[in-house]
Amino acid sequence: MITALRGMKDLQGRDSEVFEHIIKTAGDIAQRYGFAYAETPQLEATELFKRSVGQSSDIVGKEMYEFEDKGGNSVCLRPEGTAGMVRSFVQNKLDRAGGTHRWFYHGTMFRYERPQKGRLRQFHQFGCESFGQASVYEDLNVILMIKDIFEALGIRYKLIINSLGCDACMPAYRQNLVAKLQEMTGLCEDCKRRIDTNPVRVLDCKVPDCQEQYTDLPKMHQNLCGECDEDFATLKSLLREFGIDYTVDANLVRGLDYYTKAAFEFVSDEIGAQSSIAGGGRYDKLVEFLGGKPTPAVGFALGIERIAELVQMPDTERKGWYFGAMDAKAVPLIQKLAYQKRQSQQCSMQYGKKSLKAHLKAADKAGAQYCAVIGEDELAAGEIWVKDLVNKSERRQKQEEL
Ligand code: HAM
Repeated sequence: MITALRGMKDLQGRDSEVFEHIIKTAGDIAQRYGFAYAETPQLEATELFKRSVGQSSDIVGKEMYEFEDKGGNSVCLRPEGTAGMVRSFVQNKLDRAGGTHRWFYHGTMFRYERPQKGRLRQFHQFGCESFGQASVYEDLNVILMIKDIFEALGIRYKLIINSLGCDACMPAYRQNLVAKLQEMTGLCEDCKRRIDTNPVRVLDCKVPDCQEQYTDLPKMHQNLCGECDEDFATLKSLLREFGIDYTVDANLVRGLDYYTKAAFEFVSDEIGAQSSIAGGGRYDKLVEFLGGKPTPAVGFALGIERIAELVQMPDTERKGWYFGAMDAKAVPLIQKLAYQKRQSQQCSMQYGKKSLKAHLKAADKAGAQYCAVIGEDELAAGEIWVKDLVNKSERRQKQEEL
């Protein structure tokens, strides 16, 4: 038997209902915040991710599904959605058009990670990207939108925030950090490598011996320039004003290199080790870095498989029709009636004759509101028997009145 690849899952049955519910709920809320649906290809030039997500990140260094296509081009299955959205923004010259552009998207992402609960190699994200707004109010609105999505889905969360500074404050901080790290001994191999490639990433190292040494390291959010400091203070005060609890985590650095200023993660303690259910932040330099006109931007993505574990599904309502025949001669008629009904309503039908009891059971299983059956008597009288499975009423009526 050929099975799906490790870390890749089929989507069917209840899982697909939950999936659709998440996409619909999040999409409706994103539209309320002024975001419009956008889509970019799943396959992009490898260079795009190297330049945006960053050479030193684990995603680019270890996890990309990268290969040469038949034309000899190095291509890659997207590990995340932001890079493609920025590429599309620049390629379509929207950076030159000015104004604000807000997009939402959902789709498959690919990361060659070690699969475990909540960590897949092919997974789905729902994300939003906003281009053209430097105001910290846009950061707030993105966070409020995620809060609304989680509340609508019945998901509890904790919000963690940090500021990753900007080009004015981070070089000096990084230099200071590197000097301190170079004095330390016994760091893990990853941290030793990161001192040269991306020193701030040491801060979220999971090795206890490293973390013990890092407690006294200078904190990023305490070394911000005037503007970053003010923006971070405003964001915190706005969050308090809107009643959103948050924790400032000086070690929140995010696994992608493009962030500046505010970065955040929504976490849940109900899904095991992989607790991050959404992440995002500001990336004011990325448009410019990918060849566009400098444009401030902020966005987030949530992991659909992770939140699917937590969603409280609304009670499913019965809807539409089920058609069945108790006499084989009624099947062609049932087909016609079902076809007519399908022009406006959901409808299923049985192709063979069955007892009334069997039809009622099948209609119930199909989640239909009405079970409509034609037997020998109804056929002769040009009628149809209909049961409303919600209020349990029954009637016989003329077929043409249906
Ligand atoms: P990220 O934090 O790498 O950010 O991913 C966002 C979310 O995707 C995570 O919080 C998690 O729920 C989910 N996720 C990540 N990896 C996996 C996996 N292997 N299996 C299942 N779920 C996973 C980004 O991707 C950024 N592009 C977010 C962003 C948008 N920042 C600005 N705009």
